[in-house]
Amino acid sequence: MGLVTPVKPLPLDEVLLGDCIEALGALPPSSVDLVFADPPYNLQLGAGSLLRPDQSAVDAVDDEWDQFASFEAYDAFTRAWLQACRRVMKPNATLWVIGSYHNIFRVGSALQDLGFWILNDIVWRKANPMPNFRGKRFTNAHETLIWASRSAQKGYTFHYEALKGGNDDLQMRSDWFLPLCTGEERLKGADGRKVHPTQKPEALLARTILSASNPGDVVLDPFFGTGTTGAVAKRLGRRFIGIEREAAYAEAARARIAAVEPLSTAALLAAPTKRAEPRVPFLSLLEAGLIAAGTTLTDERRRHKALVRPDGTVGVGPACGSIHKIGALVQGLPACNGWTFWHVERAGRLVPIDDLRARIRAGMGSAA
Ligand SMILES: C[S@@+](CC[C@H](N)C(=O)[O-])C[C@H]1O[C@@H](n2cnc3c(N)ncnc32)[C@H](O)[C@@H]1O
Repeated sequence: MGLVTPVKPLPLDEVLLGDCIEALGALPPSSVDLVFADPPYNLQLGAGSLLRPDQSAVDAVDDEWDQFASFEAYDAFTRAWLQACRRVMKPNATLWVIGSYHNIFRVGSALQDLGFWILNDIVWRKANPMPNFRGKRFTNAHETLIWASRSAQKGYTFHYEALKGGNDDLQMRSDWFLPLCTGEERLKGADGRKVHPTQKPEALLARTILSASNPGDVVLDPFFGTGTTGAVAKRLGRRFIGIEREAAYAEAARARIAAVEPLSTAALLAAPTKRAEPRVPFLSLLEAGLIAAGTTLTDERRRHKALVRPDGTVGVGPACGSIHKIGALVQGLPACNGWTFWHVERAGRLVPIDDLRARIRAGMGSAA
């Protein structure tokens, strides 16, 4: 009788410390639903080489992990990690990769050479880009994300309707206007300095994960850094596998993710397609007695507040409008899904107003 090789369980919701090509080789094939990769940029910056006009050093990406001897070395590395990811992707899985002009074209051609099928490229237009300190070229105000399926085979996940619903019923476009990761979201060390030079904003990860995966899916990030992918995946009810070769980053990621509360199942319900779910206006929540006029709504992090008015609009200072319009206004965004953005306090906990809408919908179901 031949020996049976035991199948190792997937290291779900773990941060694996080490080189991603090696770690990926130890994972079972066809096991992940989505990959998000933020690989080294190969910026070719020497330590302290970027200065402001006052000669102070810019906190740029001059770390050892971003150094490659040549384009050939970078290309070989790119092909190796892409191939390793492709092996662990399920046949209908897709992959996001983000980069700048320094690397994204090289990554794009490697993707095509290896059999991936490019579905979209997304321009992440930065609301607050770093200025061009040397003043000799255009300011780099965007990064590019490539979204690719494992092969030309169809059957990948894409939540077209949900994205459209969150975008005021307009098709979600391939240019995303989002700020850099700053403020409370940015991890800082005891010395007040950034823990990582290229921590990505959670909003960016949320769009990539929401658009191309389902609750319960496994999201893999081979260049985990501070674990933005894991934090967002956990919040959105997905499982994650992170790989990071620097122990300090891996540790910061674990602590960050441990503090994340997953959203409620109701908030994560597959977003309603227009035809599938009955429309419930916000006013219905007032009429059903689930929210009283005069209640204060707040976002998940309690950064913004809005007052519920008796006609089902909400107000912030002199501005008033729908939950979506005011949600977008306070964030400075073109659109917002007010149902998931706004929360109410119930027994000391914040509950998304979408949970209250789900109760009305459940009542509609039982009445039908
Ligand atoms: C661009 S950063 C990713 C930042 C991350 N998206 C975040 O939001 O914090 C790339 C990360 O990949 C790690 N890295 C570079 N080469 C690696 C390798 N061969 N295996 C695993 N991790 C690697 C670096 O240490 C760095 O933290």
